[in-house]
Amino acid sequence: MRAVAVFPQARSIEVVDHTAPERRASTEVLAKVLEVGVCGTDREIARFEYGIPPDGDEYLVIGHESLAEVVEVGDDVDGLAPGDLVVTMVRRACGRPDCRPCRAGRQDFCVTGDYTERGIKGRHGFMTDQLVDDARFIVKVPAELRKVGVLTEPLTIAQKALEELWHAQDRLPWIDAGAAPDARGRGHRAVVLGAGPVGLLGAMALLEAGFDTTIYSRSPAPNPKADLATAIGVRYVSSSEHDLDELIQIAGRPDVIYEAAGVADVAMDVLQALGPNGVFVFTGVPGPEQAKPLDASALMRRMVLGNQLILGTVNAGRGAYESAVASLGAFHRRWPSELAALITKRHALEEAPGLLTNSSHGIKDVVALDGLS
Ligand SMILES: NC(=O)c1ccc[n+]([C@@H]2O[C@H](COP(=O)([O-])OP(=O)(O)OC[C@H]3O[C@@H](n4cnc5c(N)ncnc54)[C@H](OP(=O)(O)O)[C@@H]3O)[C@@H](O)[C@H]2O)c1
Ligand SMILES: [Zn+2]
Ligand SMILES: [Zn+2]
Repeated sequence: MRAVAVFPQARSIEVVDHTAPERRASTEVLAKVLEVGVCGTDREIARFEYGIPPDGDEYLVIGHESLAEVVEVGDDVDGLAPGDLVVTMVRRACGRPDCRPCRAGRQDFCVTGDYTERGIKGRHGFMTDQLVDDARFIVKVPAELRKVGVLTEPLTIAQKALEELWHAQDRLPWIDAGAAPDARGRGHRAVVLGAGPVGLLGAMALLEAGFDTTIYSRSPAPNPKADLATAIGVRYVSSSEHDLDELIQIAGRPDVIYEAAGVADVAMDVLQALGPNGVFVFTGVPGPEQAKPLDASALMRRMVLGNQLILGTVNAGRGAYESAVASLGAFHRRWPSELAALITKRHALEEAPGLLTNSSHGIKDVVALDGLS
């Protein structure tokens, strides 16, 4: 079957003929891959900065943001049948007996760093015609999400962050007792830093949770990302036009800052805007940039006197995948055209090597393996 393979040694990316996976265990699922999203991690792998083939293989099949259709299930698989749409989780446990999170199925919190990730580290990914995996790692997606289900994995970043946020803010009277899920953020302000797919999906999740939400990002409006933000009811403020004081005047002092730009200097600047009892969530992974010096004593004073938290978050557990599917359904009902517009373009598999190495790209580019209809 076809697969998009990255050869780190030879520094090449090619469409190869890859051996089709076989379903062996009774708990496994065989699925036909429909779509695979491309993100910054894939582009890093395509620049050979990251990405590790499975032991003994010279290439890594890339792709971790998937949507597939079940073809065959083992006898011990419950709740999945041929024809179902599914998303497959990315990270697998390190298998070390001393790793409590991995032992408990929370490999997104692995402490050893010896985890593997499909399409990223030590396991082949999904940019290929078929996949096989254990049903534990496979999450069902309703049929009406066929056109947007590939956004599930990138949305899990925000879903996990929100799970952590609710836990964190249980430390004080912050959420109204008994508030419905779509009201837990009510009365609070959120600023999202960055308007890429991680930022826009994060903004949708915060808005859906009831936050008054503002995106603070580089490009001046109008631009497609700012237009999308405005269309869903998020304020868009350009950091090229407004400094931090102006952001606070326009948006108010945020109770939550959701960082999704991956630029350390800007993140540390915006951290200064965080309000009392606020939580700053880092999701961005900065490159090896030269960050400017930081006034650490001012930061420490603000954090202590303001009871503030800084949280970093990566990858996601099964719960966040399931809630991402539910949220995607809610977004699809509330903002059908805006959610669909996050996917800028669909490409044939043969175009993937060029797409992965091309620096200009849309909000979310998707490789469609079953044709471009
Ligand atoms: N934690 C996780 O599990 C996880 C998973 C995947 C990705 N990530 C990380 O999440 C981050 C965002 O990913 P993405 O795919 O959404 O990235 P992206 O498409 O590159 O979007 C980045 C956004 O940040 C804005 N930005 C860049 N520099 C800025 C600056 N100096 N000031 C203000 N805004 C700036 C960009 O503005 P323009 O629109 O003007 O370009 C863009 O809107 C990345 O760092 C990525 O590595 C984390
Ligand atoms: Zn990704
Ligand atoms: Zn582990």
